Amino acid sequence: MTKCHIHPDTMAAVYGYETPEKLGFGRLSGPIMFWAEYMDGLWGPGTLEPTRKIELMPCAKVLHYGQEIFEGMKAYRVGQDKASLFRPERNWQRFNQSARRMAMPEIPQDLFMEGVYRVAAYCENIIPGGSGQSLYLRPFMIATEPSLEVTGSDRFAYMVIASPSEAIQLNPMSVLIEREYTRAALGGTGGVKTGGNYAASFASRTHAQSLGFDQSLWLDPNDRRNIEELSVMNFFAVVDGQLLTPTPTGSLLEGVTRASIIELAGEMGLEVSQQALDIDRLIEQIKDGRCSEAFCCGTAAIVNPIRELGEHDGSRYTLANPEGEISVALKQRLLDIQERRAEGPAGWVHDIPAEFYPPQPVSD
Ligand SMILES: Cc1ncc(COP(=O)(O)O)c(C=O)c1O
Repeated sequence: MTKCHIHPDTMAAVYGYETPEKLGFGRLSGPIMFWAEYMDGLWGPGTLEPTRKIELMPCAKVLHYGQEIFEGMKAYRVGQDKASLFRPERNWQRFNQSARRMAMPEIPQDLFMEGVYRVAAYCENIIPGGSGQSLYLRPFMIATEPSLEVTGSDRFAYMVIASPSEAIQLNPMSVLIEREYTRAALGGTGGVKTGGNYAASFASRTHAQSLGFDQSLWLDPNDRRNIEELSVMNFFAVVDGQLLTPTPTGSLLEGVTRASIIELAGEMGLEVSQQALDIDRLIEQIKDGRCSEAFCCGTAAIVNPIRELGEHDGSRYTLANPEGEISVALKQRLLDIQERRAEGPAGWVHDIPAEFYPPQPVSD
Protein backbone atom coordinates (compact mmCIF):
# COMPACT_ATOMS: atom_id res chain seq x y z
CA MET A 1 0.00 0.00 0.00
CA THR A 2 1.37 3.44 -0.92
CA LYS A 3 0.89 6.52 1.28
CA CYS A 4 -2.54 8.00 0.56
CA HIS A 5 -4.06 11.22 1.84
CA ILE A 6 -7.77 10.79 2.55
CA HIS A 7 -9.65 14.09 2.47
CA PRO A 8 -11.87 14.35 5.59
CA ASP A 9 -15.02 14.96 3.45
CA THR A 10 -14.60 11.80 1.39
CA MET A 11 -17.06 9.57 3.25
CA ALA A 12 -19.58 12.42 3.61
CA ALA A 13 -19.53 12.78 -0.19
CA VAL A 14 -20.32 9.08 -0.56
CA TYR A 15 -23.10 9.11 2.03
CA GLY A 16 -24.60 12.24 0.48
CA TYR A 17 -24.62 10.72 -3.00
CA GLU A 18 -28.04 9.95 -4.39
CA THR A 19 -28.07 7.32 -7.07
CA PRO A 20 -30.89 7.94 -9.56
CA GLU A 21 -33.07 5.02 -10.59
CA LYS A 22 -32.00 5.21 -14.22
CA LEU A 23 -28.28 4.61 -14.35
CA GLY A 24 -27.30 4.35 -17.99
CA PHE A 25 -23.69 3.51 -18.72
CA GLY A 26 -20.95 5.97 -17.71
CA ARG A 27 -23.44 8.84 -17.52
CA LEU A 28 -23.24 9.47 -13.78
CA SER A 29 -20.29 11.05 -12.09
CA GLY A 30 -19.40 9.23 -8.87
CA PRO A 31 -18.91 11.10 -5.58
CA ILE A 32 -15.16 10.64 -5.09
CA MET A 33 -11.91 10.55 -7.05
CA PHE A 34 -8.31 9.49 -6.57
CA TRP A 35 -5.33 11.29 -8.02
CA ALA A 36 -1.54 11.30 -7.90
CA GLU A 37 1.03 13.45 -9.69
CA TYR A 38 4.22 12.61 -11.55
CA MET A 39 6.97 15.23 -11.50
CA ASP A 40 10.78 15.27 -11.66
CA GLY A 41 10.77 11.61 -12.63
CA LEU A 42 8.80 10.43 -9.60
CA TRP A 43 5.24 9.51 -8.69
CA GLY A 44 3.96 11.35 -5.61
CA PRO A 45 1.51 9.93 -3.06
CA GLY A 46 -2.20 9.54 -3.85
CA THR A 47 -5.13 11.60 -2.60
CA LEU A 48 -8.72 10.41 -2.24
CA GLU A 49 -11.26 13.21 -2.14
CA PRO A 50 -14.76 14.32 -3.19
CA THR A 51 -15.12 14.68 -6.97
CA ARG A 52 -14.26 18.21 -8.06
CA LYS A 53 -13.35 20.12 -11.19
CA ILE A 54 -9.68 19.76 -12.05
CA GLU A 55 -7.44 22.71 -12.78
CA LEU A 56 -5.29 22.80 -15.89
CA MET A 57 -3.53 25.66 -17.65
CA PRO A 58 -5.13 26.20 -21.09
CA CYS A 59 -1.77 25.28 -22.63
CA ALA A 60 -1.57 21.92 -20.79
CA LYS A 61 -0.24 19.41 -23.31
CA VAL A 62 -3.13 16.98 -22.99
CA LEU A 63 -5.46 19.64 -24.42
CA HIS A 64 -3.35 20.18 -27.55
CA TYR A 65 -1.46 17.00 -28.30
CA GLY A 66 -3.78 14.39 -26.80
CA GLN A 67 -1.13 12.80 -24.58
CA GLU A 68 -3.63 10.75 -22.59
CA ILE A 69 -4.40 7.13 -21.77
CA PHE A 70 -7.18 5.37 -19.92
CA GLU A 71 -8.62 2.05 -18.78
CA GLY A 72 -12.13 0.73 -18.24
CA MET A 73 -12.97 -1.80 -15.54
CA LYS A 74 -15.78 -2.64 -13.12
CA ALA A 75 -16.34 -3.25 -9.41
CA TYR A 76 -19.17 -5.75 -8.82
CA ARG A 77 -21.44 -6.32 -5.84
CA VAL A 78 -24.16 -8.64 -7.05
CA GLY A 79 -25.67 -10.82 -4.32
CA GLN A 80 -22.84 -9.98 -1.93
CA ASP A 81 -21.87 -7.25 0.53
CA LYS A 82 -18.28 -6.86 -0.52
CA ALA A 83 -17.05 -5.33 -3.77
CA SER A 84 -14.91 -7.41 -6.10
CA LEU A 85 -12.89 -6.78 -9.25
CA PHE A 86 -12.30 -8.84 -12.38
CA ARG A 87 -8.69 -9.43 -13.52
CA PRO A 88 -7.56 -5.91 -12.57
CA GLU A 89 -3.87 -6.72 -13.08
CA ARG A 90 -4.63 -7.02 -16.81
CA ASN A 91 -5.86 -3.43 -16.85
CA TRP A 92 -2.70 -2.31 -15.06
CA GLN A 93 -0.52 -4.15 -17.58
CA ARG A 94 -2.42 -2.63 -20.52
CA PHE A 95 -2.25 0.82 -18.90
CA ASN A 96 1.54 0.61 -18.84
CA GLN A 97 1.61 -0.70 -22.40
CA SER A 98 -0.41 2.39 -23.37
CA ALA A 99 1.94 4.59 -21.33
CA ARG A 100 5.02 3.28 -23.15
CA ARG A 101 3.45 3.89 -26.57
CA MET A 102 2.35 7.41 -25.64
CA ALA A 103 5.71 8.43 -24.10
CA MET A 104 4.22 8.62 -20.63
CA PRO A 105 5.67 7.23 -17.40
CA GLU A 106 4.68 3.73 -16.34
CA ILE A 107 2.83 3.52 -13.07
CA PRO A 108 3.80 1.06 -10.34
CA GLN A 109 1.20 -1.67 -9.75
CA ASP A 110 0.66 -0.62 -6.13
CA LEU A 111 -0.20 2.99 -7.06
CA PHE A 112 -2.49 1.96 -9.94
CA MET A 113 -4.27 -0.54 -7.70
CA GLU A 114 -4.44 1.85 -4.75
CA GLY A 115 -6.53 4.24 -6.84
CA VAL A 116 -8.84 1.50 -8.05
CA TYR A 117 -9.13 -0.18 -4.63
CA ARG A 118 -9.71 3.05 -2.71
CA VAL A 119 -12.44 4.35 -5.01
CA ALA A 120 -14.22 0.96 -5.10
CA ALA A 121 -13.90 0.33 -1.35
CA TYR A 122 -15.05 3.79 -0.29
CA CYS A 123 -17.95 3.64 -2.79
CA GLU A 124 -18.93 0.11 -1.80
CA ASN A 125 -22.37 1.08 -0.49
CA ILE A 126 -23.31 2.81 -3.77
CA ILE A 127 -22.27 -0.01 -6.09
CA PRO A 128 -25.55 -1.08 -7.72
CA GLY A 129 -26.32 -4.72 -7.01
CA GLY A 130 -28.52 -5.89 -9.91
CA SER A 131 -27.14 -8.44 -12.36
CA GLY A 132 -25.22 -6.60 -15.09
CA GLN A 133 -24.83 -3.51 -12.92
CA SER A 134 -21.52 -2.31 -11.52
CA LEU A 135 -19.41 0.63 -10.49
CA TYR A 136 -17.61 1.43 -13.74
CA LEU A 137 -14.05 2.53 -12.91
CA ARG A 138 -12.05 4.80 -15.16
CA PRO A 139 -8.33 5.06 -14.36
CA PHE A 140 -6.65 7.61 -16.64
CA MET A 141 -3.48 9.65 -17.04
CA ILE A 142 -3.07 13.08 -18.65
CA ALA A 143 -0.12 15.27 -19.62
CA THR A 144 -0.29 18.39 -17.45
CA GLU A 145 2.86 20.31 -18.43
CA PRO A 146 1.80 23.90 -19.26
CA SER A 147 3.58 24.44 -22.57
CA LEU A 148 2.74 24.51 -26.27
CA GLU A 149 6.12 23.04 -27.26
CA VAL A 150 5.47 19.99 -29.40
CA THR A 151 7.31 17.54 -27.16
CA GLY A 152 6.17 14.97 -24.64
CA SER A 153 5.13 16.34 -21.26
CA ASP A 154 7.35 16.10 -18.20
CA ARG A 155 4.40 16.24 -15.80
CA PHE A 156 1.39 13.98 -15.51
CA ALA A 157 -1.63 13.27 -13.35
CA TYR A 158 -3.05 9.79 -12.72
CA MET A 159 -6.69 9.73 -11.67
CA VAL A 160 -9.44 7.24 -10.96
CA ILE A 161 -13.09 8.25 -11.25
CA ALA A 162 -16.19 6.06 -11.12
CA SER A 163 -19.72 5.84 -12.45
CA PRO A 164 -22.52 3.62 -11.08
CA SER A 165 -23.73 1.90 -14.26
CA GLU A 166 -25.90 -0.63 -16.02
CA ALA A 167 -24.24 -2.94 -18.52
CA ILE A 168 -24.56 -1.31 -21.94
CA GLN A 169 -27.75 -2.93 -23.16
CA LEU A 170 -27.66 -3.37 -26.88
CA ASN A 171 -30.11 -5.42 -28.86
CA PRO A 172 -28.62 -7.78 -31.46
CA MET A 173 -26.73 -5.28 -33.54
CA SER A 174 -26.84 -4.13 -37.10
CA VAL A 175 -23.31 -3.29 -38.15
CA LEU A 176 -21.90 -1.19 -40.99
CA ILE A 177 -18.81 -2.65 -42.67
CA GLU A 178 -16.62 0.46 -42.65
CA ARG A 179 -14.82 0.41 -46.00
CA GLU A 180 -13.72 4.03 -46.04
CA TYR A 181 -12.31 5.09 -42.67
CA THR A 182 -10.02 2.93 -40.57
CA ARG A 183 -9.74 3.11 -36.82
CA ALA A 184 -5.98 2.98 -36.49
CA ALA A 185 -2.82 2.72 -38.56
CA LEU A 186 -0.33 -0.10 -38.53
CA GLY A 187 2.46 1.06 -36.23
CA GLY A 188 0.06 3.66 -34.80
CA THR A 189 -1.79 3.66 -31.50
CA GLY A 190 -4.68 1.26 -32.18
CA GLY A 191 -3.26 -1.38 -29.86
CA VAL A 192 -3.40 0.91 -26.83
CA LYS A 193 -6.10 2.91 -25.07
CA THR A 194 -5.56 6.55 -25.89
CA GLY A 195 -8.27 9.15 -26.46
CA GLY A 196 -7.35 10.00 -30.06
CA ASN A 197 -8.36 6.53 -31.26
CA TYR A 198 -11.86 7.20 -29.99
CA ALA A 199 -12.12 10.76 -31.30
CA ALA A 200 -11.09 9.43 -34.72
CA SER A 201 -13.90 6.85 -34.64
CA PHE A 202 -16.86 9.14 -33.95
CA ALA A 203 -17.38 10.33 -37.55
CA SER A 204 -17.78 6.74 -38.73
CA ARG A 205 -20.22 5.93 -35.97
CA THR A 206 -22.32 9.01 -36.70
CA HIS A 207 -22.36 8.08 -40.38
CA ALA A 208 -23.26 4.44 -39.57
CA GLN A 209 -26.15 5.61 -37.42
CA SER A 210 -27.38 7.98 -40.10
CA LEU A 211 -27.65 4.92 -42.38
CA GLY A 212 -29.64 3.01 -39.76
CA PHE A 213 -26.79 0.90 -38.34
CA ASP A 214 -25.80 0.66 -34.68
CA GLN A 215 -22.01 0.53 -34.95
CA SER A 216 -19.08 0.32 -37.39
CA LEU A 217 -17.05 -2.78 -38.11
CA TRP A 218 -13.39 -1.84 -38.56
CA LEU A 219 -11.24 -3.42 -41.24
CA ASP A 220 -7.46 -3.53 -41.33
CA PRO A 221 -5.74 -0.26 -42.21
CA ASN A 222 -3.54 -1.74 -44.97
CA ASP A 223 -6.02 -3.02 -47.54
CA ARG A 224 -9.34 -2.94 -45.67
CA ARG A 225 -9.82 -6.65 -46.07
CA ASN A 226 -9.54 -8.32 -42.69
CA ILE A 227 -11.83 -7.62 -39.76
CA GLU A 228 -10.13 -5.84 -36.85
CA GLU A 229 -12.79 -5.09 -34.26
CA LEU A 230 -16.28 -3.73 -33.82
CA SER A 231 -16.59 -0.16 -32.61
CA VAL A 232 -14.93 -0.37 -29.17
CA MET A 233 -15.34 -4.12 -28.77
CA ASN A 234 -13.58 -7.24 -30.01
CA PHE A 235 -15.17 -9.43 -32.68
CA PHE A 236 -16.01 -13.15 -32.79
CA ALA A 237 -17.78 -15.31 -35.41
CA VAL A 238 -18.92 -18.92 -35.27
CA VAL A 239 -18.08 -20.68 -38.55
CA ASP A 240 -18.74 -24.41 -38.97
CA GLY A 241 -19.11 -24.58 -35.19
CA GLN A 242 -15.63 -23.15 -34.62
CA LEU A 243 -15.16 -19.85 -32.75
CA LEU A 244 -13.03 -17.45 -34.79
CA THR A 245 -11.55 -14.11 -33.75
CA PRO A 246 -9.04 -11.83 -35.50
CA THR A 247 -5.38 -12.35 -34.68
CA PRO A 248 -4.00 -9.30 -32.86
CA THR A 249 -2.31 -7.16 -35.49
CA GLY A 250 -0.96 -4.33 -33.35
CA SER A 251 -3.72 -2.03 -34.59
CA LEU A 252 -6.59 -3.63 -32.66
CA LEU A 253 -7.03 -3.44 -28.92
CA GLU A 254 -6.69 -6.78 -27.15
CA GLY A 255 -9.53 -6.84 -24.64
CA VAL A 256 -9.56 -8.44 -21.21
CA THR A 257 -13.01 -9.77 -22.14
CA ARG A 258 -11.66 -11.21 -25.41
CA ALA A 259 -8.89 -13.09 -23.55
CA SER A 260 -11.43 -14.36 -21.01
CA ILE A 261 -13.91 -15.51 -23.69
CA ILE A 262 -11.15 -17.41 -25.51
CA GLU A 263 -10.28 -19.23 -22.30
CA LEU A 264 -13.90 -19.95 -21.32
CA ALA A 265 -14.80 -21.15 -24.82
CA GLY A 266 -11.92 -23.63 -24.66
CA GLU A 267 -13.12 -24.78 -21.24
CA MET A 268 -16.64 -25.29 -22.71
CA GLY A 269 -15.20 -27.58 -25.36
CA LEU A 270 -15.37 -25.13 -28.26
CA GLU A 271 -12.57 -25.03 -30.77
CA VAL A 272 -11.18 -21.48 -30.87
CA SER A 273 -8.98 -20.10 -33.62
CA GLN A 274 -7.28 -16.71 -33.87
CA GLN A 275 -6.80 -15.95 -37.54
CA ALA A 276 -7.11 -13.31 -40.23
CA LEU A 277 -10.86 -12.92 -40.90
CA ASP A 278 -11.42 -11.81 -44.49
CA ILE A 279 -14.65 -9.78 -44.61
CA ASP A 280 -15.71 -10.92 -48.09
CA ARG A 281 -15.18 -14.55 -47.16
CA LEU A 282 -17.20 -14.07 -43.98
CA ILE A 283 -20.04 -12.51 -46.00
CA GLU A 284 -20.10 -15.64 -48.22
CA GLN A 285 -20.14 -17.80 -45.08
CA ILE A 286 -23.06 -15.79 -43.69
CA LYS A 287 -24.93 -16.16 -47.00
CA ASP A 288 -24.45 -19.94 -47.18
CA GLY A 289 -25.19 -20.40 -43.45
CA ARG A 290 -21.73 -21.68 -42.45
CA CYS A 291 -21.32 -18.59 -40.27
CA SER A 292 -24.21 -19.10 -37.87
CA GLU A 293 -23.58 -16.33 -35.38
CA ALA A 294 -21.31 -13.42 -34.62
CA PHE A 295 -20.85 -11.28 -31.54
CA CYS A 296 -18.65 -8.66 -29.97
CA CYS A 297 -17.37 -8.29 -26.43
CA GLY A 298 -15.89 -5.76 -24.04
CA THR A 299 -16.04 -4.70 -20.40
CA ALA A 300 -18.99 -2.35 -20.89
CA ALA A 301 -21.28 -4.53 -23.02
CA ILE A 302 -19.88 -7.92 -21.84
CA VAL A 303 -21.05 -9.97 -24.86
CA ASN A 304 -23.41 -8.67 -27.52
CA PRO A 305 -24.81 -10.61 -30.47
CA ILE A 306 -24.74 -9.26 -34.03
CA ARG A 307 -27.89 -9.49 -36.12
CA GLU A 308 -26.61 -8.37 -39.50
CA LEU A 309 -23.71 -6.81 -41.35
CA GLY A 310 -24.33 -4.24 -44.06
CA GLU A 311 -22.69 -2.00 -46.64
CA HIS A 312 -22.83 1.70 -47.50
CA ASP A 313 -24.85 0.77 -50.62
CA GLY A 314 -27.65 -0.74 -48.52
CA SER A 315 -26.80 -4.47 -48.88
CA ARG A 316 -27.46 -6.42 -45.68
CA TYR A 317 -26.30 -9.90 -44.67
CA THR A 318 -28.39 -11.41 -41.89
CA LEU A 319 -26.95 -14.00 -39.51
CA ALA A 320 -28.81 -17.33 -39.34
CA ASN A 321 -28.77 -17.24 -35.58
CA PRO A 322 -28.93 -13.59 -34.53
CA GLU A 323 -29.53 -14.32 -30.83
CA GLY A 324 -26.76 -16.93 -30.94
CA GLU A 325 -26.76 -19.71 -28.35
CA ILE A 326 -22.97 -19.73 -28.19
CA SER A 327 -22.80 -16.03 -27.41
CA VAL A 328 -25.61 -16.40 -24.84
CA ALA A 329 -23.81 -19.31 -23.14
CA LEU A 330 -20.47 -17.48 -23.08
CA LYS A 331 -22.04 -14.32 -21.71
CA GLN A 332 -23.81 -16.25 -18.97
CA ARG A 333 -20.66 -18.13 -17.98
CA LEU A 334 -18.61 -14.93 -17.84
CA LEU A 335 -21.25 -13.03 -15.90
CA ASP A 336 -21.67 -15.92 -13.45
CA ILE A 337 -17.94 -15.74 -12.71
CA GLN A 338 -17.83 -11.93 -12.49
CA GLU A 339 -20.90 -11.86 -10.25
CA ARG A 340 -19.61 -14.76 -8.16
CA ARG A 341 -22.34 -17.30 -8.80
CA ALA A 342 -19.73 -19.68 -10.23
CA GLU A 343 -16.03 -20.37 -9.74
CA GLY A 344 -13.87 -19.22 -12.60
CA PRO A 345 -10.23 -19.88 -13.36
CA ALA A 346 -7.99 -19.18 -10.36
CA GLY A 347 -7.22 -15.50 -9.68
CA TRP A 348 -9.86 -13.94 -11.95
CA VAL A 349 -12.04 -12.45 -9.21
CA HIS A 350 -10.34 -10.28 -6.59
CA ASP A 351 -11.53 -9.04 -3.21
CA ILE A 352 -10.37 -5.60 -2.17
CA PRO A 353 -7.80 -5.96 0.62
CA ALA A 354 -9.08 -4.77 4.02
CA GLU A 355 -6.46 -2.01 4.38
CA PHE A 356 -8.01 0.01 1.53
CA TYR A 357 -11.39 0.35 3.27
CA PRO A 358 -12.35 3.33 5.44
CA PRO A 359 -11.57 2.83 9.13
CA GLN A 360 -15.31 2.79 9.95
CA PRO A 361 -17.31 0.06 8.23
CA VAL A 362 -19.30 1.35 5.24
CA SER A 363 -23.02 0.85 5.77
CA ASP A 364 -25.86 0.93 3.23
C1 LIG B 1 -11.17 -0.28 -29.06
C2 LIG B 1 -11.55 -1.29 -28.05
N1 LIG B 1 -11.54 -2.59 -28.39
C3 LIG B 1 -11.86 -3.56 -27.51
C4 LIG B 1 -12.24 -3.24 -26.21
C5 LIG B 1 -12.58 -4.33 -25.24
O1 LIG B 1 -11.62 -4.40 -24.22
P1 LIG B 1 -11.98 -4.92 -22.77
O2 LIG B 1 -12.56 -6.29 -22.94
O3 LIG B 1 -10.68 -4.94 -22.03
O4 LIG B 1 -12.96 -3.98 -22.19
C6 LIG B 1 -12.30 -1.90 -25.83
C7 LIG B 1 -12.72 -1.52 -24.46
O5 LIG B 1 -11.88 -1.27 -23.64
C8 LIG B 1 -11.93 -0.90 -26.74
O6 LIG B 1 -11.95 0.40 -26.39
